[in-house]
Amino acid sequence: MCGIVGYVGDEKATDILLDGLEKLEYRGYDSAGIAVRHPEGAIEVIKEKGRLSNLEKLVAEAAPQGTEGIGHTRWATHGESNQLNAHPHHSKGDRVVGVHNGIIENFAELKAELTDKGYTFYSETDTEVCIDLIDYYYRESGDALDALKHAKAAIHGSYALAILFDDRPGEIWVMRKSSPMILGVADGRAYLASDVPALLKHTRDVYYMDDDQMATLSRDGIQFYDGEGHPIELELTHIDWDIEAAEKGGFDHFMLKEIFEQPVVIANTLRHFVDTNGWIRFKGSHMTPDFYKSFDRVHIVACGSAYHVGCVSKYVMEELARIPVDVDIASEFRYRNPILSEKDLVIIISQSGETADSLAALREAKKQGAPTLAIVNVVGSSIAREADRVIYTVAGPEIAVATTKAYSCQLLVMDLIALDLAVTLGRIDEARVQELLGELKSIPRKMDAILKHHEDYKAIAQHYLNDEHMYYVGRGLDYAACLEASLKLKEISYVHSEAYAAGELKHGTISLIDEGTPVIGIATQPALSEKIRSNLLEVKTRGAAVFTLVMEGLDGFDAIGEITTIPAIDPLWATSLSVVPMQLMAYYVSVGRGLDVDKPRNLAKSVTVE
Ligand code: M6R
Repeated sequence: MCGIVGYVGDEKATDILLDGLEKLEYRGYDSAGIAVRHPEGAIEVIKEKGRLSNLEKLVAEAAPQGTEGIGHTRWATHGESNQLNAHPHHSKGDRVVGVHNGIIENFAELKAELTDKGYTFYSETDTEVCIDLIDYYYRESGDALDALKHAKAAIHGSYALAILFDDRPGEIWVMRKSSPMILGVADGRAYLASDVPALLKHTRDVYYMDDDQMATLSRDGIQFYDGEGHPIELELTHIDWDIEAAEKGGFDHFMLKEIFEQPVVIANTLRHFVDTNGWIRFKGSHMTPDFYKSFDRVHIVACGSAYHVGCVSKYVMEELARIPVDVDIASEFRYRNPILSEKDLVIIISQSGETADSLAALREAKKQGAPTLAIVNVVGSSIAREADRVIYTVAGPEIAVATTKAYSCQLLVMDLIALDLAVTLGRIDEARVQELLGELKSIPRKMDAILKHHEDYKAIAQHYLNDEHMYYVGRGLDYAACLEASLKLKEISYVHSEAYAAGELKHGTISLIDEGTPVIGIATQPALSEKIRSNLLEVKTRGAAVFTLVMEGLDGFDAIGEITTIPAIDPLWATSLSVVPMQLMAYYVSVGRGLDVDKPRNLAKSVTVE
């Protein structure tokens, strides 16, 4: 996720802005920039691709002397990572200069409207469109607050925006919606940042802005406004975290922070790919009807958790689009001489976009003439660049080695592809599409409801702190969910665990079940409810300590052992919810065993070697 900083005061702005951006580096970025107002009034924008050190060199050469400015680290979403797409962005003649975190959903429509009004664009970003929109309203009224208010009404999406107007020295204007904006004051100086670490050196007394609010920062302090432009007052919050805790947003670990970010990134992903009329749009990815009709088989290839996304997607895509789907582990696929042709779509899923086996699998697919599609989180990564088509997940940078929010976003993107394909192939009616989209939109709210009770999973995890072996069992989509639940547990807690298709237990594995063996069941599929219940009863009869995660509405599991529930949702999407308690349980087992949750032994975030 991008980072924002801003400063107005009496000290050299460049030092404060660069220092603030450095404090946000941990969030990941691929370009950075600042805008500083010179003492005589002109605004200078300096930005560069790559590390902050590249920007620092340019800043040292230009040496702008101003004492007010804004800065940004960019994690590319719209348009590749390059100097032109880096922030700050400016309108013609630098009349309005701004930095932005978030996603403007309707930027294509706004761009078309502004083009009709004579605006031209130099970048591929949604941010430039937003800055020009503010410029347009500012030209109309000459009133900064009014311009922001109008722009706010026209924009759909999420934003934390910090704006300089060329004829308003001494002022930085900000507004936010669904993207954090934190402001701080200290004698004659005002600061802004998208995250607390960038502010801590200067002040610990901060204001957290709410959705729809606007503010102006000056040397005299901060004036806040509600969505209508009426002056309001916000409550000051004192921060007593140290810098490390602040980077983790107050959470003990990045993994927990990222688990809690899931409702927001899922909502962002939905906004990004589903337009306001309920149409799925993979902008810029060339997912045209002709393309969808050009293949008659799908191969999903990936590693680790990304492979588990593929396992879920096989069920979903086959069910909705009635097209055969194979799922392969990339390290197997690349060497098994797969049979492919131009009628086989190969989908490579990868958070990092750099996983060596997934990249090799992509190259093998291309060699055999199969069309390829990459689902990738890191913009401009090798897999993204080499695939014929790419759809980016908008999970933002993921820091913990164990993936959580990237997994959830990958799953959602695959769900949307399955729906889009089903519509194009005429395998689903419009009413069902809208029903399923409505259910997808309920995921953030339902995830929030699960996360509200995260302490319950801490209590449940205490039962497993001394176990050395665990079994996860489920059927259908729940079996696919078990694969991810089991990997999450083993990679961060070092507990040996296995995921089993429940019906397969009696073909061998059930002989391992003994008095007290922990077995975790997942039961979210009404059509398979009776079957999984019988399987759980079978292991209970042989002494297993059964704990089941059950979807609300499915009965009879509490007679077998302990249960916990997740909110009801269409069974096709249930794995998006069931994964959250499983992530929390794995997390709390790891914490309870005193392990390094974010950096488990022997593992790397990006596996770039075979
Ligand atoms: O970057 P990728 O998505 O290609 O990575 C794939 C796996 O290495 C990754 O999912 C790994 O299994 C994670 N540690 C799971 O949490």
